[in-house]
Amino acid sequence: MSSPEVLTPPMIDRMRATSALAADTLLMVGEKLHAGMSTDEINTLVHNFIMEHDAYPSPLNYRGFPKSVCTSVNEVVCHGIPDKRVLANGDIVNVDVTTYLPKKHGYHGDTSATFYIGEVSADAKKVVECARKGLELGIAQVKDGARIGDIGRAIQEYAEGLGCSVVRDYVGHGVGREFHTAPQVPHYFDANQNKRMKAGWVFTIEPMINIGRYETEVLADDWTVLTKDRSLSAQFEHTILVTRSGCEVLTARRAVLRNSEDVAWAELGPLSAPAAFKAA
Ligand code: MF3
Ligand code: CO
Ligand code: CO
Repeated sequence: MSSPEVLTPPMIDRMRATSALAADTLLMVGEKLHAGMSTDEINTLVHNFIMEHDAYPSPLNYRGFPKSVCTSVNEVVCHGIPDKRVLANGDIVNVDVTTYLPKKHGYHGDTSATFYIGEVSADAKKVVECARKGLELGIAQVKDGARIGDIGRAIQEYAEGLGCSVVRDYVGHGVGREFHTAPQVPHYFDANQNKRMKAGWVFTIEPMINIGRYETEVLADDWTVLTKDRSLSAQFEHTILVTRSGCEVLTARRAVLRNSEDVAWAELGPLSAPAAFKAA
């Protein structure tokens, strides 16, 4: 893999714009989610919202992916394909939005969150909040000159300390004019990831945390990733710009995420959920 690109200021402005749209899309989804809704309905909402904002949903036809968003319910780790499945009380669902703005010669902004549908189990709360806090701790490591491996170390220490596990088969990634590019950003400690971050790099951090073991398997549709032991899995993702003093969370939301950040037990952090920390 080639080395990560240092984005110029005009490119960074494009990244801010596409990432803000991705963040707004997730806010819109949070407001509409409810038990009884199908994941296909989420797909339609996301598809229409992105198209109405002069952008294109990056997942659609990406390497053959058939829909405009990934919806990953309960034991689905990532890359769930929206279908007729109806969300039920007690489910958790990750919605992973990627926008391409503008439609031609655009830039990708990539963000996801896990939502609660109604009353959920203690295990569901634990794994979702572990993923939310893990992302926060990972983002806190980002700074020009810091090592990529520091991100995964922080996330793994926290998650395993709670008895959860960190998925190894899928990692964060550089994002910009391409959907997936260098660098790779593991969410577990990998001694090979001793490269230092540079101001101007943009990449995602997107920890997938399982309540059981970390191993995954892929369904016959070649997309849907499940926990091998069928335990619950949760994920949050932000697109991050490395700066001299730390980072800018490009997909930071302008408001509190409904059905996720608004619950009493949410392990919110100021880096990943800034709207919840704004003075009232
Ligand atoms: N948005 C996912 C990520 O965070 C990638 C989805 S690829 C798709 O990297 F084809 F499934 F959409
Ligand atoms: Co991503
Ligand atoms: Co994503």
